[in-house]
This record gives sequence, C-alpha cells and structure tokens, in this order.
Amino acid sequence: MSEKYFIVTYGCQMNVHESEKIAGILRRIGYEEEAEKKEEADIIVFNTCCIRENAENHAFGNIGALKKLKKQKPHLLIAVGGCMTQEKGKTDVLKKKFPFIDIMFGTLNLEELEELIRKKKLQKKRVISIREKEGEIVEFDDAYRTSYPNAWVNIMYGCNNFCSYCIVPYVRGRERSRDPENIVAEVKKLVAEGYREITLLGQNVNSYGSDGSTGVTFAELLDRVASIAGKFRVRFMTSHPKDFNEDVVKVMQKHPKICRLVHLPVQSGSNSVLSAMNRRYTREKYLQEVEMLRSYFPEAELTTDIIVGFPGETEEDYLATEELVKEVNFASAFTFVYSPREGTKATEMPNHVPEEIQKDRIMRLVALVNSLTRQKSEAYVGKTVEILCEDYDEKKGLYLGRDEFGRMGYFKSEKNLVGEFISLKVTKANGISLFGEIVVD
Ligand code: SAH
Ligand code: SF4
Ligand code: F3S
Repeated sequence: MSEKYFIVTYGCQMNVHESEKIAGILRRIGYEEEAEKKEEADIIVFNTCCIRENAENHAFGNIGALKKLKKQKPHLLIAVGGCMTQEKGKTDVLKKKFPFIDIMFGTLNLEELEELIRKKKLQKKRVISIREKEGEIVEFDDAYRTSYPNAWVNIMYGCNNFCSYCIVPYVRGRERSRDPENIVAEVKKLVAEGYREITLLGQNVNSYGSDGSTGVTFAELLDRVASIAGKFRVRFMTSHPKDFNEDVVKVMQKHPKICRLVHLPVQSGSNSVLSAMNRRYTREKYLQEVEMLRSYFPEAELTTDIIVGFPGETEEDYLATEELVKEVNFASAFTFVYSPREGTKATEMPNHVPEEIQKDRIMRLVALVNSLTRQKSEAYVGKTVEILCEDYDEKKGLYLGRDEFGRMGYFKSEKNLVGEFISLKVTKANGISLFGEIVVD
C-alpha cells in the first residue's frame, strides 16, 4: 500500500506554492498519494505563517489537535515548516508545547526536508534544522501543482523593505532574484503542459533584479514571459507602490495576455501613518500611479491590502484611508487589523490603538469595500466577459472561473471545461460572484 501525505497550508500564495514544492519532495521519496483526511496520512506537514497573531494561533490549535492521533498511530510523522519556524524563539515554544513534532524545518532550507525525513526515520529523536540566513536559490523542477489551470512561479524570494509592522523580512531573509532564464524556461514548460494562467510571485516584484544580479528588470522579465507563445494569462504580485512604474505598464500595453489588474497594497491613506509604516511613498504618489495606470487602460482594476489600527492612527487618518478607497474605487481589498509582531519596529511605537476602536474601523472599512465590490458586480450584468474555467462546484452544480480582473463567474455546462477560456454572458450578480450563460461564438 502506498504511503500518504497531508499538507496544511497557512498564509500567502508564496506558501501555497511552497506547499506544492513540499508535495513534490514527498512524492519524490515515496509518499505517493495525498490523503483525503489527516487521519489517513503517514506524514502531516504544517506549512505555517506568522504574518499576524491569528495565523499563528490557527497553526498552534491545529498542531495541538494531533496529539491524540499521534498516540494512536505512532508511525505517523509530523513535520512543521514555514515562516513560524523561522521566527526567533518560536521553535523552542513549539518544542515545549508539542513534544510529538518529529521534524522542524524553515523556509530558508525547504529543500532539506527530504534529508530530514530520511534522518528521522533512522532515529527516535526529533530532527530540527532551521537555516538562519538565506543561501543560494535552490531550483525545484518537481513541484506537485494543485491549482491547475493556474500556476504560481517564484521570481524572487525574501524582502528588503522592513515595513515597520511586518515580520516577513525577518523570516524570509534578504531579497534575491531568480535567474531570468530559469523563470522563462519554467513558464514555457507550464504553458506547454496546458497551464493557462501564470502568476509571477515576489514580495515586491518591481524590485526584481535591482541588485544587478540578473541583468534584467521586472519590466523586461514580464515582457519576456508574456512573449512566450500560446493562449494564457499573466499576473504578477505583489507590486510595491514605492517601486511600481510606467515601464511595467508599457509592457502591459504591449501584451494583452497580461491582466489589466494590479494588486497594489496601499496599507493606509494617511501620509503620517504611511511614514510610520516605513512604506516610503505618499498618498499623492499612490494616487498618481493609479492615474498613470488608468491613463493607459481606463478599464484597469486595482486590488489592495489595508491595515487599520496601526499605532498612532487617529480617526482622521482612518477617514483618509476611507477617502482613498473611494477615490481609487478598488475592485476588492484585503483588510486587516494591525497585529503586533515581536521584533518589528511598530511594536515599540507609542499610542497603540485600543481594540474596540480597531474593531469599529475594520467593520466600517469592510462595509465600504463590500459596497464597492457589489456595485462593480452589478455593473457586470448584461456584459459578456472571458472566463478561464478553473473548477466545478459540486454543491452548486456549476462550473466556475475568473475573468481577467479576478472576478468569479459561475455557469452550467454539460462538458468539463476546466482549463478552457469561455465567453460568459452575465445574467446575475450576487455579492462578489457573477452568474451567467456560456455564449458560443
Ligand atoms: N509584500 C507584500 C505583502 C506581504 S504580507 C506588500 O508589501 O504588500 C500581506 C499583507 O499582510 C500586507 O500587505 C499587510 O497588509 C498585511 N500585514 C503584514 N503585516 C501585518 C501586521 N503586523 N498586522 C496586520 N497586517 C499585516
Ligand atoms: Fe512586509 Fe513590507 Fe516586505 Fe511587504 S514589502 S513583505 S509588507 S516588509
Ligand atoms: Fe507569507 Fe505568512 Fe510567510 S504571509 S511570507 S506565509 S509570514
């Protein structure tokens, strides 16, 4: 009987893709099948996130819940990796709290997992190996992808920005860019295999190659990727407003394959908060970039990330964020309450915002963002859009997919259309989702 694995992923797309690499490693060493439930697995890997306290609490809760299973099934291996294990002092906390963890590894030495599992199988003692400093980029060519027809492609790792609230630079190391030849080769292979949407990933894609190591800027890389023949879409994330520029937009103009959607996290609409966050742009610069993008593509959409309740944020600051959200008219936004992260500058700042005020602001902001998203959905009714079919929703009995702006559309089909582009005539909008009928042309 083949051995089975189960991977629990928390956090961002970066982690989602790293779990695909972990699955690749597990398959390489004989765990051939993905278990449907944790109870059926021979190895369970937690790929953790520590961006906010609640992400950590989820992981703690779920790891803790395995104590009983591990007792009933002593041969089960439990491995913990991801950003949490890279956090200072966290492995000690994990060790103490969960003596039944067999393996711990970091984001900076993911490739070692194969070796660590082998080692653990030969010894009773648990195996821990966390690399403290980033090393050379290790290429993976056997990631086991689970999001067909979409494929994630790393273009860079780490971050140099040290936004004052953020733990990423501490747990992911300094910025390093992948060789452009390797990126282009990977995308070519994915397109040849039938992937129809390629998302280039980095914490700050606009700073790709800025250390001079690749000889290519992000705009040039994007141009090369979008020049690959075949019908597919290109997305990229995340753009940082301090580095987003017209060169990228000009490349977008050259290639209809590049979706006219930019994820441009603004974090706050107030200059004093932006400065305390160490974001290194102003509200005015952000709005200029939006204007520049829309001067090329009036139909362009933007999505964003926003933090409310950052230390020192006044009601006036918060209202400046609301104003900016209305002005930009975002297609959608990820909204967060500020969560203090140990070791980051913001934890030492004065005037932490009381929890009730943070809660009140997040509720108001979510209501605003939802109303914008709903209005945009309603404007879709009667229009025909191109959808890349991604999946079948068993409960609804409908296929689903996204348009270039990331809007989800549902439709009926007798034929399996996953991986195909279809024209959808939108007949109904429901919150963030669209419903419609396939148009045959
Ligand atoms: N590199 C990306 C974001 C990575 S983290 C960028 O610069 O935009 C994703 C989002 O999590 C951030 O954009 C921010 O909105 C949010 N975030 C990061 N640290 C946080 C914290 N300490 N508390 C609340 N939200 C946080
Ligand atoms: Fe964090 Fe800022 Fe880096 Fe994004 S750019 S990962 S928010 S430090
Ligand atoms: Fe991503 Fe969370 Fe790490 S957001 S980079 S998995 S801390």
